[in-house]
Amino acid sequence: MTREEALDSVKDNVESKNLVKHMLATEAIMRTLARRFSEDEEEWGLTGLLHDIDVELTEGDMNSHSKLGSDLARELGASETMAHAILCHNEAHDVPLETNLDKALFCADPLTGLIIAAALVRPDKKLATLEAGSVRKRFKEKGFAAGADRQQIAQCSELGLELDEFIKLGLKAMQKIAADLGL
Ligand SMILES: [Fe+2]
Repeated sequence: MTREEALDSVKDNVESKNLVKHMLATEAIMRTLARRFSEDEEEWGLTGLLHDIDVELTEGDMNSHSKLGSDLARELGASETMAHAILCHNEAHDVPLETNLDKALFCADPLTGLIIAAALVRPDKKLATLEAGSVRKRFKEKGFAAGADRQQIAQCSELGLELDEFIKLGLKAMQKIAADLGL
């Protein structure tokens, strides 16, 4: 599967522009993490890009979400490793995180939401001027972007990453694609 094929399929299955942006942001962080750990950048990036492809199709049914997604990813040519990461990013299935790819997707997913929310409360609403330190402060504010699960983000430790480094890497990754994110 090429990146273009993956993105086309995402756009075919997802109407929400914000959800597509969330998947682009996740892809960007996953690519950066892959480089950081000398893993397969294409495999990690495409896993991030596809991970929520079924959200609208499953209409909020958490028992189906990510099962269908992993099947769709397989149909597109994703490896079993990729399909497994997509499956277990939804905790409802109780499938343990095994590979580094599983662990990376699990913690990268909610970090995108925290970073986007931190950018949106800035006067210029831009990622370019957002600093990692201020994302770190927002991380500690429980009421801020409460949907961005802090425990899940903090599981970057499972990859051997300190939270500060993870936030820095994630922010840089998203700043590079700020135009695509409209931020
Ligand atoms: Fe997600």
